[in-house]
Amino acid sequence: MNQEAIVELDSGVLSVCFNRPEKKNALTQSMYRAATEAIVRAESDAAVKVVVFTGAGDIFTSGNDINDFLSVPPDGEDSPVVQFLMVLADTDIPILAAVNGRAIGVGTTMLMHCEKVYAVDTASFATPFINLAVVPEAGSSLLMPKFLGYQQAARMLVFGEAIDAQTAKACGLVSELCAAGTLMTTVMDDARRIATLPKKAMRNAKRLMRMAEQPLRDRIVHEMKDFGEALNSPEAQEAMTAFMEKRPADFSKC
Ligand code: COA
Repeated sequence: MNQEAIVELDSGVLSVCFNRPEKKNALTQSMYRAATEAIVRAESDAAVKVVVFTGAGDIFTSGNDINDFLSVPPDGEDSPVVQFLMVLADTDIPILAAVNGRAIGVGTTMLMHCEKVYAVDTASFATPFINLAVVPEAGSSLLMPKFLGYQQAARMLVFGEAIDAQTAKACGLVSELCAAGTLMTTVMDDARRIATLPKKAMRNAKRLMRMAEQPLRDRIVHEMKDFGEALNSPEAQEAMTAFMEKRPADFSKC
């Protein structure tokens, strides 16, 4: 088992727990692979009805591992992150998220592909791509203005501002807020109930609902092209190196 992502099947519920708490669950290639494999498995394994994502410790995920952005940047559609985003966008398997703390970067953008998002009432949500001098991903440039409205989306995507759990709930990014101690019980109870529903009919309903999002795949590809170019820019290199060196970024010479 890949210990950076703990994958468990219980009563039709396949849960994926991002498990790198010492690095704030920053997502590595192997974690993206585990997440992709879970969704792909759910599509073909009759024993799996629903997938649940959560995080270990006090954070959902701090987003893509910034060190990986520098050392193994995603290059094209075969990269684990792009494979994950495509499977997430394409799948008709119901997906739930249990957001147990901060959700940063892809930790927030992936939520717009989920059917239900539970969050602790102390959670926060941020897409600080701008701070790293890169661009939105996971179709968030398309989905976030729809979820949050243009100006709230701009606050998050253009200016990197975070929102709290109550705002996320009011915007529709989160379906239900829970007290910290009750999150996993609430989510797993609901997931087990969902697992008793007829799988094929659920998949058909999700597929029909997602038809309106057909441009999503094109947008993800477009975003990843811009993202790849941005990653190589002097601004992004400075931003990511500064994060790893624990100093403020200085864009004045970029
Ligand atoms: N990539 C790589 N390493 C990360 C990381 C990430 N996305 N997020 C956290 N880490 C690492 C830190 O470098 C640190 O490592 P160290 O112990 O070896 O020094 C460790 O995780 C703990 O993080 P730290 O920053 O000390 O914890 P904190 O509680 O002060 O802050 C965060 C937590 C999540 C707010 C902060 O780590 C952060 O802003 N992370 C980056 C978020 C981000 O920009 N993600 C990409 C979005 S596109």
